[in-house]
Amino acid sequence: MRKFRAGIIGIGFVGVAHIEALRRLGNIEVAAITSQGDAIQKAEQLNVPYSFSDYKQMIDTMELDMVHICTPNSTHYEIAMYAMEHGVNVLCEKPMTTTLQEAEVLSQAAKEKGLIHAVNYHNRFYPVIHHMRQIVKEGQLGKIFSIHGGYIQDWLQYDTDFNWRLISSVSGKTRAVSDIGSHWLDLVEYISDLRIVEVFAEFSTFYSKRKRSLQRLETFSKALRSPKEYEEINIDTEDFACIMLRFDNGAVGNSTISQMFAGEKNRISVFIGGSEMSAQWDSNDISNIMVGRRNEANIILTKDPELLHPESKFLSSYPGGHVEGFPDAFKQAFKQIYASIEDPTLRKDYATFEDGCRQMLICEKIFESAHTNKWVKV
Ligand SMILES: NC(=O)c1ccc[n+]([C@@H]2O[C@H](COP(=O)([O-])OP(=O)(O)OC[C@H]3O[C@@H](n4cnc5c(N)ncnc54)[C@H](O)[C@@H]3O)[C@@H](O)[C@H]2O)c1
Repeated sequence: MRKFRAGIIGIGFVGVAHIEALRRLGNIEVAAITSQGDAIQKAEQLNVPYSFSDYKQMIDTMELDMVHICTPNSTHYEIAMYAMEHGVNVLCEKPMTTTLQEAEVLSQAAKEKGLIHAVNYHNRFYPVIHHMRQIVKEGQLGKIFSIHGGYIQDWLQYDTDFNWRLISSVSGKTRAVSDIGSHWLDLVEYISDLRIVEVFAEFSTFYSKRKRSLQRLETFSKALRSPKEYEEINIDTEDFACIMLRFDNGAVGNSTISQMFAGEKNRISVFIGGSEMSAQWDSNDISNIMVGRRNEANIILTKDPELLHPESKFLSSYPGGHVEGFPDAFKQAFKQIYASIEDPTLRKDYATFEDGCRQMLICEKIFESAHTNKWVKV
């Protein structure tokens, strides 16, 4: 099996998850990391041989097969462009960029250079999600009538919670929608193979100002309820979005996105209703999907390679009863993305830069709708 060399840029919450998933694959060496301010310490902690404070130096010197961009959204464009100009394949975190225009430029550049390009919409890689996609594809649900669900979290619940995602110049003009909503939007288009053609959105920002603690906090860490020292920051992105959807086959749907729903840590759910059956999945019950039937008992399928659709078995590395979750979805996505360096004709279940552009487009249309109070065509 060919061995690959990876360089990871940004060693925060998700950068560490990338490193762990790559190492579990066995044929990918995490050759170097780039981190700002703490590169040497992070490399020591993670046992990575080379560290840089400047990604350009890493790309220039390390002979990498792939860079993983795990930095805040506003940096994705320049890093991806630099890597591609130097002939390096790119695996970029979502959302791909902060504007559709940047995403389109990157997508065009990747095509022209013939490089592998991917965006980490990892929810596609849960085995039961692939099974759900297969049964929809085979028409088992009948004509799709409706798709609904959402993505809810609580880590920005208090006005003392703060993160770079709350600054629109870093995050992009939508926040909850592009940060977590784009996972849901990508997932429902992936499972159903339908395209969202029109959107109508209502946004709400529950705190127009937040108190940013002067003490540095990592992503998803809990802020003190009453920090002694803080600065007040105006918030211009949404905490909550309610989105109505129309799909290209005439199906309708809606999605609820919130980063302020107490008690829900990271819950994404998808409900697909067809003329014959329905199918539903909820990440709080990550191994199961329910297939709903009108005249017979419903079916609960628990992830088990022996029971999954034959086309979906490849995404499961462990027998039934052995849960495969968030880190495993990363592992399966990366396995397929690296395999396509060796053979670009292999199947691509992963999101490419074109899919990244599509999410940027849908998020921009959702933003436009929320600010014009009108249905907007995608
Ligand atoms: N696929 C997923 O489920 C998932 C989950 C979390 C985050 N993300 C995405 O990953 C990206 C990072 O999010 P996070 O939660 O890990 O953020 P984070 O704040 O935890 O980590 C970002 C890291 O990047 C570093 N950084 C910033 N600019 C840099 C630069 N120019 N060079 C090197 N390092 C730099 C920061 O110091 C920080 O350590 C975002 O785009 C986010 O949307 C995706």
